[in-house]
Order: sequence, then structure tokens, then C-alpha cells
Amino acid sequence: MKKVIYTLKNVMKTYESFSEITHALDNVSFELYKGQVIVILGPSGSGKSTMLNVLSGIDNPTSGQIIFDKVNIEKMSEKELTEYREKNLGFIFQSYNLIPNLTVYENVELGSHLSENTLDIAEILEIVGLSEMKHKFPYQLSGGQMQRVAIARAVAKNPKVLFCDEPTGALDEKVGKQTLKLLQDINKKYNTTVIIVTHNPAIALLANMVIKMNSGKVVSITENENTIDANEIGWA
Ligand SMILES: Nc1ncnc2c1ncn2[C@@H]1O[C@H](COP(=O)(O)OP(=O)(O)O)[C@@H](O)[C@H]1O
Ligand SMILES: [Mg+2]
Repeated sequence: MKKVIYTLKNVMKTYESFSEITHALDNVSFELYKGQVIVILGPSGSGKSTMLNVLSGIDNPTSGQIIFDKVNIEKMSEKELTEYREKNLGFIFQSYNLIPNLTVYENVELGSHLSENTLDIAEILEIVGLSEMKHKFPYQLSGGQMQRVAIARAVAKNPKVLFCDEPTGALDEKVGKQTLKLLQDINKKYNTTVIIVTHNPAIALLANMVIKMNSGKVVSITENENTIDANEIGWA
């Protein structure tokens, strides 16, 4: 039985600047399921990052409902939202946002701060293949290695949901696939719900569910019976 983790009902996010009105999210409704890999796919400006921001409570929707595990996020106070994020969510971005004067180990350890359910740092470093690098500093790493540190840091608190905004945007094909494989491994091992935002259609093939967006609207929702391994995808 699939369990719902997020329900969106008629979500709107509207920006007004000068005389221009942009519907970054235009009447969006769907359900996401626990333990799945979900890809939000669309061209630049289609509302993907806005979607990620309202799901994670970084931004308030203009109207509509966003329900996480039976609780309405859009009704939460700032304090409740902070708690919701700290307890449940991990984030990975295209830029790795590592702390330059902390080692790999210390950067990852930082991610487990404020969590009740932390994973063993040595175990995570093993999974991301960085055990040998744990005393190195970010400037001594390649882009792919930095992204793996960022993933390890996000996973350290064993989040229920891992949000990834263009996680392979700055990586070449080979390293990009390794990064996606790692996200798949984490999804399987910890049953983490992984939500990947991308403009790259090839990445959609590894998702259980693909939400395609354009101009703030959901244009299609596809469920993949058979997902493929990150190593097997072609690259756009
Ligand atoms: N803070 C903002 N103020 C005004 N317009 C915004 C703001 N954030 C996003 N937008 C607009 O909303 C639309 C969706 O943006 P975004 O969610 O960043 O798209 P994507 O991540 O798919 O590239 C774009 O037209 C963008 O210009
Ligand atoms: Mg974006």
C-alpha cells in the first residue's frame, strides 16, 4: 500500500512586481507517496524551485493547501515551519554550500545537528565513498566529491524527505550519474522520499513518479512501473 506523504490542493503562488503578475504555481494539485523517488521536470521558469520552496515551507503559497503527514504546512507559524524542516527535511542544491574551513567529516556532522534520529557519520561517509577523504577540506575536492559531501550532510539527520534542486546541474554526465545513483541508493537503504527537481528529461526515467511542469502548471503526472538504474540513463 502506498502511503501519501504530501497532498497539494489548488496551490497558487503569485508574484506581483510593478505591473507584472506571474503565477509561479498555477492551481497545482497532486499527491506524493512515501519512499518514492519523485522527479519534478520542466524548463527554466516553469515553477520547479517555487514548488520545492512551498513544499519545504521556505515560501508560503498565495492560496491552497499543502499537507505533510496530515498536517497543513501553510497554516504553520514560522517556529513550527523551522521545526518541520529541521525534523523532517534534507536539502541538496546545485551549488554545494559547504563550509570552506570545515573538513569533510565536520561538514557532514553539521547536518546531523538538531536531529533526533541521526545516522552514524562514518556509515554515511562509507556510503558516499568518502571515508578516505574525511580530513580533507572542500577546496581539495572535485565537484562530484563536493556534491557527495553535500548529500552526506543532507542525509546525516536521516530526513523523511530529501529535496534536490538541479543536483546534477553543475556536473558532467559520468559524475552526474554517480550522484543520481547515490540518491537512488539512499532512497532504497533508508526509504527516504527523494524529490528531484530538474530540466533534464533523462533523469525522469529513474523516478517512480514524474510531475511535468510548464508555466506554473502541472501538465502531466506519470507513474513509472519500472524505474531504471542511474547508470543506464542517457544524458540530455
Ligand atoms: N521572488 C520572485 N519574485 C518574482 N518572480 C519570481 C520570484 N521567484 C520566482 N519568480 C518567477 O516565477 C516563475 C517560476 O520560477 P522558478 O520556480 O524559479 O522556476 P524554475 O525553478 O522552474 O526555473 C518564473 O517566471 C520566475 O521569474
Ligand atoms: Mg529553479
